[in-house]
Amino acid sequence: MPKAHKQGTKPKSRESGLGTRCVHAGEEKHGHAASLTTDIARTSVFALPNVDYLRGITKRGSGDYYYTRNGNPTTAVAEEKIAALEGGAGCVVTASGMSAILAAALATCKAGDEIVSMQDVYGGTIKLFGDVLGKLGITTKWVPFEGTRDLSKYCSKKTKLVFVETPTNPTLRCIDLRSAAKAAHAVGAALMVDNTFATPVLQLPLSLGADIVMHSATKFLGGHSDISAGAVVAKDAQLVAKMRDASVSTGGTLDPEASYLLIRGLKTLEVRVERASKNAGDIADFLEGHKKVSRVFYPGLASNESHNIARAQMSAYGMMLSVDIKGGGKAAETFINALQLWYLATSLGGVESTVSYPVLSSHVNCSAKQLKELEISGATVRLSVGIESCDDLIADLEQALAKAKSDLPQRTRRNAKF
Ligand SMILES: Cc1ncc(COP(=O)(O)O)c(C=O)c1O
Repeated sequence: MPKAHKQGTKPKSRESGLGTRCVHAGEEKHGHAASLTTDIARTSVFALPNVDYLRGITKRGSGDYYYTRNGNPTTAVAEEKIAALEGGAGCVVTASGMSAILAAALATCKAGDEIVSMQDVYGGTIKLFGDVLGKLGITTKWVPFEGTRDLSKYCSKKTKLVFVETPTNPTLRCIDLRSAAKAAHAVGAALMVDNTFATPVLQLPLSLGADIVMHSATKFLGGHSDISAGAVVAKDAQLVAKMRDASVSTGGTLDPEASYLLIRGLKTLEVRVERASKNAGDIADFLEGHKKVSRVFYPGLASNESHNIARAQMSAYGMMLSVDIKGGGKAAETFINALQLWYLATSLGGVESTVSYPVLSSHVNCSAKQLKELEISGATVRLSVGIESCDDLIADLEQALAKAKSDLPQRTRRNAKF
């Protein structure tokens, strides 16, 4: 029986290029008629040969598979691959991005401890830290974006976890990770980075000083909008073990079928990201200065407030951008309804290009004051750029922008042209 949780990037994987790790890490195949693809261990439990074996596996850390919530060989492959991409000691794959954050928070904090988190994080993270962890006696100090330039002002002896997201949703603000790590480490806290928008293809937080990196693998890591999954990677193997304990105990394990889809998505991560990021750059250039657009949020633009930070710590500027449509909320709605190729969807990171409308989705619960601080308004539309032919994406944006002021009836996909 194969051993569970024997993770860590093998020296061979470490030396390989990123594309090779995407395809091969965690999946070495040897022997006659070995499946080239990873088998799905579609089982909730594993048969054991005898009672002595059972006696052995109940000892903590024996590393055998016995119950899928505790460990599954298909999921272990996804974990090894992601650890190899992020350069960590190990990875815990979870049922969602939220369960990945929960596992890391429980592994680093207990009642009486404090999390220091930037305010510009995913809405679900705000709810988890504020409402759920608050009930467990773990408090959160929220840092406005201007404060993230010097996080040390917010950290104290009580701080055990510093949490940042970069680039942020939906205004693509970037955080200097080296400086955030310095502030966290000065008080003995761990720095955790939500790397969902950048992916390890464009940004490696652990190499910039972070201790933990997490993903909503629902997004670019999975890449095909067909799974809900999360991943959390740490530099330190003991921390990985603690996060695994927390994930197993809170039932955050990913189903092996979804783990298989995650593995398959990861194989093409580098090529998808390279293509989509190039598309996004071309689209940002097209939108900047367009007469129907009052602002483009994209860290790749020299005019963007986060351009220098992004240039210093990312290898390209990413697949996400946002725009403010001239004419406010009504114009933004007519623009979205006029799109024919871009889907309106409340997620991101798939091969298909999508738009979302933050004031009615990710930020629907924000007060007017919060929206102002985050620079989000009814005019703001978020774009997740896919891997389609860029000319088609731009042509669709162009025709929809031309209609941005008029009162068009709701579009139906049946009469879509593409
Ligand atoms: C940046 C970011 N982090 C975390 C999450 C939560 O991930 P999930 O929906 O997979 O739980 C999301 C979801 O949209 C996200 O956009």
